[in-house]
Amino acid sequence: MDGSGKKEQKDLWSDYWRTSQSNDCASDFPEDARRAIAGKWRVIFSRLESGDSVLDVATGNGALVALLAEVAGPELGLLVTGVDLAQIDPRANAGLPGGEGAAGMAELSFRGGVDAANLPFDDRSFTLVVSQFGLEYADFEKAISETCRVARRWVKLLIHAADGAVVRQNGLIPGQVDWLCRELGLFDAAREQITAPTGVTRDRLASISVAIRKKCAALENPDFLYSSSQYMGQLLGQSAAMGKAQAVRYVDAMEARIEGNAKRMRALAGAARSEDDLARASDICAAAGYDPVSVAAECPGGEQRLAGYWLEAERPGGAQS
Ligand SMILES: C[S@@+](CC[C@H](N)C(=O)[O-])C[C@H]1O[C@@H](n2cnc3c(N)ncnc32)[C@H](O)[C@@H]1O
Repeated sequence: MDGSGKKEQKDLWSDYWRTSQSNDCASDFPEDARRAIAGKWRVIFSRLESGDSVLDVATGNGALVALLAEVAGPELGLLVTGVDLAQIDPRANAGLPGGEGAAGMAELSFRGGVDAANLPFDDRSFTLVVSQFGLEYADFEKAISETCRVARRWVKLLIHAADGAVVRQNGLIPGQVDWLCRELGLFDAAREQITAPTGVTRDRLASISVAIRKKCAALENPDFLYSSSQYMGQLLGQSAAMGKAQAVRYVDAMEARIEGNAKRMRALAGAARSEDDLARASDICAAAGYDPVSVAAECPGGEQRLAGYWLEAERPGGAQS
């Protein structure tokens, strides 16, 4: 990724983590997939011992760190670090436990501005290095090498699958956002209707509403368009009571939110990896001395529901070093 692409990613995710209602990228998944994924992380974390150190790469709002805090007994005294390319503050944004000794951790620190492809840590600094749907947003092969370098014992990664359900379901959203914002001009029409309503602005909104209904009827999954149009309808219905300035602020905020969503979904589609990519990643781990190395599909509820790939590697003798 070039410098401007990286800056765009950084800004996109910094905004997302500051304003998102969700603390966890796995929240895009159905409940059974979330439970399966969290269950697997719990098993991984349950193998940690007193004084072990953990690095969470591309931590976001610290979803994995929060899970680790639930699993780790208070006596463990883990040394936990979360890093991300974005400017992050999981304590402020996600209410993660703060202070030394919180929830089984002797130390807990977060650092933004850290590229997974260039980790600022010495070789073999961490007992366990993890990442949940994060590392693949960086230069993938470099990030895998870096992860292998800084891990002492275990590497455990969950990676978005290019042919997975989340990519498939969300792949259409960027096009729908373009259509709503640019082709239909929904947000401009709403602002006009709020600030200077006339018969023309009302008719324009009515014809936009008809176009959205038609499109929803033709789509296999109309949820995004349907909920956007419902929300806009409610907003316009309440605009007189809330006042013009406030109503326009809400419209602006909604537009920014769905544009951000479209960018995130584009980034997700670009980050997701194929089985071949995972095979190359596992070769990199093996060449770095890890054995065994395994790749497994996470498919809760059957093959149609591929949620991602687990890449797991252990360094022989890592427990002693
Ligand atoms: C889908 S979110 C996952 C966040 C978190 N691991 C979770 O499970 O909720 C992807 C994360 O990757 C981060 N990211 C994107 N590019 C990165 C890079 N080059 N290096 C490190 N983190 C990056 C983003 O800022 C974002 O927080």
